[in-house]
Amino acid sequence: MTDKKRYPMPLPFGWFVIDYSEDLKVGDVKAVRYFSQDQVLFRTESGVATMLDAYCPHLGAHLGHGGMVKDECIECPFHAWHWDTNGKVDSIPYAKNIPPKAKETKIFKYPTVEKNNLIYAWYHPEGLEPSYEVETYPEVLDPEWSDEFVRFEYSVKCHIQDMAENAVDAAHFKYVHGVVSYPDFEVSYDNQKRVSVQEANMETPRGTVEGKITAYSNGPGDNATKFEGICDTLLLGSTTPIEDEECIVRFSFLQKKVNGEAPKGGVGAAIIADIDKQVKEDIPIWEHKKFALKPVLCDMDGPIAQFRKQYATFYVNYNEAQRIAALHLD
Ligand code: FES
Ligand SMILES: [Fe+2]
Repeated sequence: MTDKKRYPMPLPFGWFVIDYSEDLKVGDVKAVRYFSQDQVLFRTESGVATMLDAYCPHLGAHLGHGGMVKDECIECPFHAWHWDTNGKVDSIPYAKNIPPKAKETKIFKYPTVEKNNLIYAWYHPEGLEPSYEVETYPEVLDPEWSDEFVRFEYSVKCHIQDMAENAVDAAHFKYVHGVVSYPDFEVSYDNQKRVSVQEANMETPRGTVEGKITAYSNGPGDNATKFEGICDTLLLGSTTPIEDEECIVRFSFLQKKVNGEAPKGGVGAAIIADIDKQVKEDIPIWEHKKFALKPVLCDMDGPIAQFRKQYATFYVNYNEAQRIAALHLD
């Protein structure tokens, strides 16, 4: 008998990328869907990026379908009530008075932060406030690094935890991605952070170049990988759940400039193309697998148990999550 449900885990809490800063201009209003819920995302006249639950408390219109930014508010397309960036009613154009009940009403507002030229929202299934901060990647604003991201986007039908496990699954790099030498990495954990360092020497026509790959994670939504050696590259890998079993993955690359210019073509482009190829190799596995609750592991499988233990701390019901996602591996 096979169980139809592919994943026993709920969605984790954390900071997740919801858009690129440059894609949300002043006055823009978007209907979006993250965390199995509908939202409206907009940028006010003064430039504040705001994400609220989508539905107007008055009579239920979706604010993202026809809503308009008016100063620091969003105007509902149905009866033109104005809602501010805290989700509170600001004005009702045809009412003599704002009724007390409307004054008390609040549309759920997601905490948002704009950093690294990205917009992040905090998701918590019980609506609790953020418990850690969004990381800053100095390369994004550093004039020595490329001025714009090279962007890739993938939609993947998979639970976010199962995709993340890929990073510590040492053996798959050889069999899925054709990596020649067996990856040897050191992983360390500090609260919601995970850092893995891998020495990666590269053979080139000019001899061996010492290389290093450092992968950082700050909570479940934010990953960054730095490739050092031939062409220094930073990959911001943001994963955001759309549904319980579907994610949007945004890969944003920056490279160190050479003689004042971002590398075009050559090794730089080859590094990016190789990572894009790797994701496309992973996707069919991710989309068709189910979570191995009690995996049968061998000695060279990588630190999967340790990974699952930390990941379990991103769930509200920690004890239950531990039982599901980690303890079977002890
Ligand atoms: S439904 Fe939004 S103003 Fe009426
Ligand atoms: Fe992979």
